[in-house]
Amino acid sequence: MNLDKDYFLNKYNLMLPHSEIVKAMPDLPKGKALDLGCGGGRNSLYLAQQGFTVDAWDHNENSIKKLDTICVNESIDSIMTRVVDLNDLEFSGQYDVIISTVVFMFLNPKSIPNLIGNMQKSTKKGGYNLIVSAMNTEDYPCNLDFFNFTFKPKELSSYYQSWTIKKYNEDTGLLHKTDEQGNRIELRFATLLAQKN
Ligand SMILES: C[S@@+](CC[C@H](N)C(=O)[O-])C[C@H]1O[C@@H](n2cnc3c(N)ncnc32)[C@H](O)[C@@H]1O
Repeated sequence: MNLDKDYFLNKYNLMLPHSEIVKAMPDLPKGKALDLGCGGGRNSLYLAQQGFTVDAWDHNENSIKKLDTICVNESIDSIMTRVVDLNDLEFSGQYDVIISTVVFMFLNPKSIPNLIGNMQKSTKKGGYNLIVSAMNTEDYPCNLDFFNFTFKPKELSSYYQSWTIKKYNEDTGLLHKTDEQGNRIELRFATLLAQKN
């Protein structure tokens, strides 16, 4: 497999892997990973490049087909894709790492506690969860109608009280979407990297 970080960007026009996964990589136990809402697969492909076996799930059939095509073209057999709706999904497993970057905001708010519960129970002891998702805060209100769910301050970290939180912040980030003045919309994002005790 080509291990160049830019390889899938240059050849398939995929975005670079999420910066939080790249930063976390040195600490992650190598093994089995689950990428929830994998989209075009930038993070799944990066995890595979780093030696993980990856389950890559998304409800968008076209994204999954594209990722399957990349895997065939590149003779990658360590990524197993699945079309799933993360709302009301029950799953179990023994994963070393479970990630979900910029996905939760598209989900039904009612499904979030159960989804996080499934992520936690499907993570091996010593394994990691990485979640990045948009927030709605007083200083950076989020009124975007295409987001179904946003985290409140400290909400995401409160789910992980019994884990070791390696990183948690609510820093601001820019969406590609612009406001009426043409400025990119700035929001807070909850970023969490936690290890199961
Ligand atoms: C902004 S993209 C992020 C993709 C990927 N995680 C990344 O960081 O490149 C959001 C993804 O969430 C997926 N998604 C949205 N709602 C979903 C649902 N109910 N079940 C599964 N995937 C969903 C979309 O299809 C899309 O691929």
